[in-house]
Amino acid sequence: MLELLGDWKRTDYCGSLGIKDLNREVIIMGWVQSKRDHGGLIFVDLRDREGIIQVVFNPQLSKESHEKAGLLKDEWIVAVKGNVARRPPETLNPNIQTGEVEVIANEIKILNIAKVLPFPIENEINVDELLRMKYRFLDLRRPEMRNNLLLRHEIVSATRNYLNSNGFIELETPYLTRSTPEGARDFLVPSRLNPGEFYALPQSPQLLKQTLMISGFDRYYQIVRCFRDEDLRADRQPEFTQIDLEMSFVNENDVMEIVEGMLKAIFNAAKGIDITTPFPRMRYDEAMLKYGNDKPDIRFGLELSDITGIFLESGFKVFSDAIKKGGIVKALNLKGKGSELSRKEIDDLVELAKTLGAKGLAWIRVSEGEWQSPIAKFLSEAEKEALKETLKIEDGDIVFFGADSSYIVNLVLSNLRLRLGERFNMLDHSKFAFLWIVDFPLLDFDETEKRYVAMHHPFTSPKEEDLEVLDIAPEKTRARAYDVVLNGVEIGGGSIRIHRSDIQQKLFDKIGLEPEEARKKFGFLLEALEFGAPPHGGIALGVDRLVMLIAGEDSIRDVIAFPKTQKGVCPLTEAPSPVDAKQLLELQIRVNLKEK
Ligand code: AMO
Ligand code: AMP
Repeated sequence: MLELLGDWKRTDYCGSLGIKDLNREVIIMGWVQSKRDHGGLIFVDLRDREGIIQVVFNPQLSKESHEKAGLLKDEWIVAVKGNVARRPPETLNPNIQTGEVEVIANEIKILNIAKVLPFPIENEINVDELLRMKYRFLDLRRPEMRNNLLLRHEIVSATRNYLNSNGFIELETPYLTRSTPEGARDFLVPSRLNPGEFYALPQSPQLLKQTLMISGFDRYYQIVRCFRDEDLRADRQPEFTQIDLEMSFVNENDVMEIVEGMLKAIFNAAKGIDITTPFPRMRYDEAMLKYGNDKPDIRFGLELSDITGIFLESGFKVFSDAIKKGGIVKALNLKGKGSELSRKEIDDLVELAKTLGAKGLAWIRVSEGEWQSPIAKFLSEAEKEALKETLKIEDGDIVFFGADSSYIVNLVLSNLRLRLGERFNMLDHSKFAFLWIVDFPLLDFDETEKRYVAMHHPFTSPKEEDLEVLDIAPEKTRARAYDVVLNGVEIGGGSIRIHRSDIQQKLFDKIGLEPEEARKKFGFLLEALEFGAPPHGGIALGVDRLVMLIAGEDSIRDVIAFPKTQKGVCPLTEAPSPVDAKQLLELQIRVNLKEK
């Protein structure tokens, strides 16, 4: 039954046929999406990467083809020779691109067969993601996944076009390299030729792209894989792709302008959308105050208010004790929706707060002048008045409160804000809201390690006017760093770098990195800084997150051909896996397996 292609040559993709091809003889090849046997005629939907076309087998035209078509099952591979014809008016299918035409088959070759599928090749299948990942070769045939990967190609190709035409040079940096400080754990690769020594897979090309600037390759870019051994989430994979770029003799605005132009080109090519540039900019402080995080979704309001001042001396211990311990009190007023939240929903929100580490979530619902609330009875008249005024509380409102360390309060209320935004359909899913976050602190105090750590990475330059602050109040020093945020997702981050070795040394001092340690870790960069380093800066954008947002997906796994599970496993290849004793011996590695 199976035949060879022989000298048949494909003339067209199934999905590209249309009225323009009427009456042409074509040869198409692809997968049988479905077959309908109408007694006389057999209709087969044939699919390839461009889409689906209906093929008609008529026994009166070719008895042999009709018989062969009768054998076909889902996902068999066939080649068809036939003529493009207009569909009868009653069979037009406006749902598919090729819906006005069909191919009247003259000949067919069955090239391969397929087993019964574990799930159908269509959108919106209700199957476990693990099964989809195990049969990824089938999953990627589904239109949604196919379109996502084609979109990804468009985006990457628009990126290259834009950067090439703006004078950027594409250069590669090694994957077998040394540790780069992006804050995650390294993936290590043992060196057979140097037993006991390891390469680290790069968390980013940060150090090497800076080295390239020092070598004079102003305007470098790379679409590059990065590796970070961290806990995985919907927008995090252990390996992911960055659009990494670096420029010399520039300031923040130069880098931001290039990124805005690049995103404009990407959205134009991938979506035909003209996004507005320049993007708004928001200071880190303002983002934290109003939204509780540094990647706010500004498609809706629902801003937070800091009301610590009202409760400094309060009799309500939950609030005043939190403040005495150095914490804060913030509130979120969900205007006019008080009566729309059921008691069960409120309880669920309190639970959400607790799972995020809060001790509770106080609330006040105002109806006909009454304050229904578990805390109203603890508040003085003056406090109630102050709340009313600060939060503009009116009938119909419900207000939520967080009192704890600023970290917990912001974490809880920023998540609550998003949850409520979703619940009340405040997010316009057709909108792309870009935002730059600027004026990040340079350093962050790590409570467990009792020392300052770099908030971005330790090569980020402090603001010139803050250099003296670095000595007096390190935590108040601002960085020349910027993040680009889209719809509440951090899609990129970068900075102007330190290009003077004296300042680099000073920063290492501040983060408690001994000179000896610094030499050991990034000696080559420190040395390079002493041989004529130009002022430089750059950024990296997460390709997977960008594609996810443009595709309208919730997880980057749906825009990566072969992603890994939460546990870092690839169900298709079954990586990671044990290796032969021989391989371990060569690497001089002994594995201590705990008994199961
Ligand atoms: P940063 O660490 O902020 O900066 O990373 C840049 C962007 O990469 C994406 N990203 C990820 N995407 C998927 N999975 C992950 N695990 C993951 N981690 C990061 C995000 C992020 O904004 N060297 C600096 C850049 C620079 O300073 O030029 C860096 O890597 O979208
Ligand atoms: P309690 O005194 O623990 O019964 O708390 C009284 C109210 O305050 C309850 O509604 C709690 O959910 C809320 N609550 C308790 N701790 C906090 C906190 N740290 N922040 C905000 N609300 C809290």
